Amino acid sequence: MRFSRCSFIFANMKSTNAKPFIKWAGGKYQLLEEIELSLPKNLHKYKEITYIEPFVGGGAVLFWILQKYPNITRAIINDINSELICTYRIIRNNIKDLILQLEVLQKEYLSLDTEKRKEYYLSRRTEYNSKQASDVRLAALFIFLNKTCFNGLYRVNSKGMFNVPHGKYENPRICDKENLHAVSALLQKVDILCGDFSITEKYAGESTIFYLDPPYKPISATSSFTSYSKEGFSDTEQIRLRDFCTRISRMKSFFIASNSDAKEEAEKSFFDRIYSTFNIKRVSARRFINANPLKRCSVSEILISNTTQ
Ligand SMILES: C[S@@+](CC[C@H](N)C(=O)[O-])C[C@H]1O[C@@H](n2cnc3c(N)ncnc32)[C@H](O)[C@@H]1O
Repeated sequence: MRFSRCSFIFANMKSTNAKPFIKWAGGKYQLLEEIELSLPKNLHKYKEITYIEPFVGGGAVLFWILQKYPNITRAIINDINSELICTYRIIRNNIKDLILQLEVLQKEYLSLDTEKRKEYYLSRRTEYNSKQASDVRLAALFIFLNKTCFNGLYRVNSKGMFNVPHGKYENPRICDKENLHAVSALLQKVDILCGDFSITEKYAGESTIFYLDPPYKPISATSSFTSYSKEGFSDTEQIRLRDFCTRISRMKSFFIASNSDAKEEAEKSFFDRIYSTFNIKRVSARRFINANPLKRCSVSEILISNTTQ
């Protein structure tokens, strides 16, 4: 299978109906058009494609691409966050029980005043961190905390305890039934893995497309957001990922990877240097998950790919 750069934007993204069921730092919704431009030309015409997303997070690209390209007959997703992955599996396998739990959480939470909501939130957070919950309960708590915490952040301390404070949304939609059902239907053809991104390498080969969206390299010393998991993601990890991309590329997989445009600081052009044999495109994105509203502005990000130019 040969890939080349797509020269047009496919229209009508509104026809999609399954969308991310959580807010997730680094969500890629606004980069979809740019990602689409880097996809293989005539992707619609290929018969059987496997889509692989080793850092799935909230899955903005996953849900979009699966609905846009029904000829993707198989997908494999992975993330190192085991609670997130448990939630994906419960949505796929046990949607009914999950919705029952979420409806109770929603009803109880919305019936309270602000002070009592905070107490309720903190006791659900303690329950979540106790790691005693069943998988269905864990998934319900994961979604509940995401919808009611400060800014939809996911942050854990060095012991792996979720420590985001209560948020102040007036009427959060904790149980979005329609979307959860749509997501569940879509996930039926998805294999869901939990671990380091490297475990997806064995799926590389012809007719496979990888989209890689690792934790970004901080663009400055003060802008770091690397705590999706207690493991973090250092420059050594970024280089390990580059080596991974090189290997899957040799195995004839197509890949697109995103990252920050970490080039203005002391260490200039980090990604230009480490990905010098691949294509790098600079794109503009609005970043919403920032504690300071004044800092939620457009930033330059990069898309790296092995598309032929
Ligand atoms: C930038 S986010 C992905 C955002 C996603 N594209 C979206 O639209 O929501 C990076 C993800 O990588 C995961 N992660 C961090 N280190 C990892 C590793 N070594 N292997 C696999 N996943 C990892 C984090 O848990 C997080 O969900």
